[in-house]
Amino acid sequence: MTGLSAIELEDVVKEYLSHGEVVQAVKGVTLDIAEGEFFSLLGPSGCGKTTTMRMVAGFEAPTKGLVKLHGQDVTNVPPNKRDINMVFQSYALFPHMSVWDNVAFGLKQRRTPDEEIGRRVGEMLEIVDLTGREKRRPRELSGGQQQRVALARALVNRPRALLLDEPLGALDLKLRQAMQIELKRIQREVGITFVYVTHDQNEALTMSDRIAVMNDGLVEQLAGPREIYERPATAFVAGFIGTSNLLAGAATGGELKIGGGRVLVPGQSGDVTVTVRPEKITIGTDEPDPGCSAVRGTVSEVAYLGTYNSYAVSLADGAEITVFQQNALDATATAERGDSVWLSWQARHSYVIGS
Ligand SMILES: Nc1ncnc2c1ncn2[C@@H]1O[C@H](COP(=O)(O)OP(=O)(O)O)[C@@H](O)[C@H]1O
Ligand SMILES: [Mg+2]
Repeated sequence: MTGLSAIELEDVVKEYLSHGEVVQAVKGVTLDIAEGEFFSLLGPSGCGKTTTMRMVAGFEAPTKGLVKLHGQDVTNVPPNKRDINMVFQSYALFPHMSVWDNVAFGLKQRRTPDEEIGRRVGEMLEIVDLTGREKRRPRELSGGQQQRVALARALVNRPRALLLDEPLGALDLKLRQAMQIELKRIQREVGITFVYVTHDQNEALTMSDRIAVMNDGLVEQLAGPREIYERPATAFVAGFIGTSNLLAGAATGGELKIGGGRVLVPGQSGDVTVTVRPEKITIGTDEPDPGCSAVRGTVSEVAYLGTYNSYAVSLADGAEITVFQQNALDATATAERGDSVWLSWQARHSYVIGS
C-alpha cells in the first residue's frame, strides 16, 4: 500500500423513488480506501453495499456527496472513463468463446496489437493459474475456474481498482475458502486496489486489510479485522462478526453485578454493555480467582464441533452465554447439560461497547 487514496466517498447518499416513496439505500457514507488496499464492505443483505459499489463504478449517481478516484472528483464521470473494473457474482462469461478469447475480449475491442494481447493474456492466465486451459469453453470448467476467468478478464485491462460484488456467492463452502486464499494471493501479485463486497464475516476477516461494517445504509465501524473482532464499536458489529456475548447493566465501582458474580469493567460507571468472545471464557466448577470476571450458571446445551466444544450456559437472571473450548488436548467435555458451573475470563477480555 502506498498510503495514497484510491477511492474516496464523502458523505454519499443514495435515494431511490420506489412506489412514490423515497427509499434511502445509502444514508451518508464516508470512506477513504488506499491504493493497493484489500478493502471490504461487509454487512447483511439490503444494507447498501451494492448501491455503494455502483456509485464508485459510476453506474449510479449519488443523490448527495462526492466520489473521488485517485484524488479526482469523478462524481459526474461515466463508468467507462473511470479506470475501474467490476466483477459480479454472476460472472457472465461468453459461453461460445474459449477461455483465451474471453480474457482477450477487452483488449481486442481496444485494438491492442496482437503481440501485446498474446503476452498480457498469457501472463494473466498464469496469475489465475489457468495456463493449459486456454482452449476450453466456460462450461468445461468448474465454478471456481470460471470465476478465475472472470477475474482474469477484468484484470487484463489493468484497471487501477477492481470492485468485486459477492463474487464467490455461487460457490460451495470449500471452493469459496480456497478461492479466498487465491484472491488474496492474486491481489498481492497484481498490487491493485480491491474493493470486496460480502455478507460473509469470515470471508471479510480472512482477506481484508480493512473492513467497513455496514448496517442500514451507514458504516458502523471501519477498521482492520482484528480491531473489528476484538473491539466492536457497536452492539450490531459485535453480533454480526463472530459469536459474541453481550452483558448489560449498571456498573458501580468498576463492576457489573450479574449472574451471581461480577464482570470487571475498570473505570466504568453507569449503564454499560460489555462484550466477551466465547473463546476467551473458561468453564469450570472451582470458584475462580477474584481478579477475574466470573459468573455462575447452568449448562443448557453442549455441542461437539470437531475442533472445539460449544457450551450454552444460562445465568440466573436469564442471560445466556456461549463458551467455546478448544479440543487441543482431548475431546472430553468438561461439563455436561444440567451442570452448575463457573464461567471466568480476564478483565482485559471484556470490551465495553462504545468506549
Ligand atoms: N433501483 C432501486 N430502486 C429502489 N430501491 C432500491 C434499488 N436498488 C436498491 N434498492 C434498495 O436499497 C437498499 C440497499 O440495497 P443494496 O445496495 O442492493 O444492498 P446490499 O447490496 O447490501 O444487499 C435495499 O433496501 C434495496 O431494496
Ligand atoms: Mg448486494
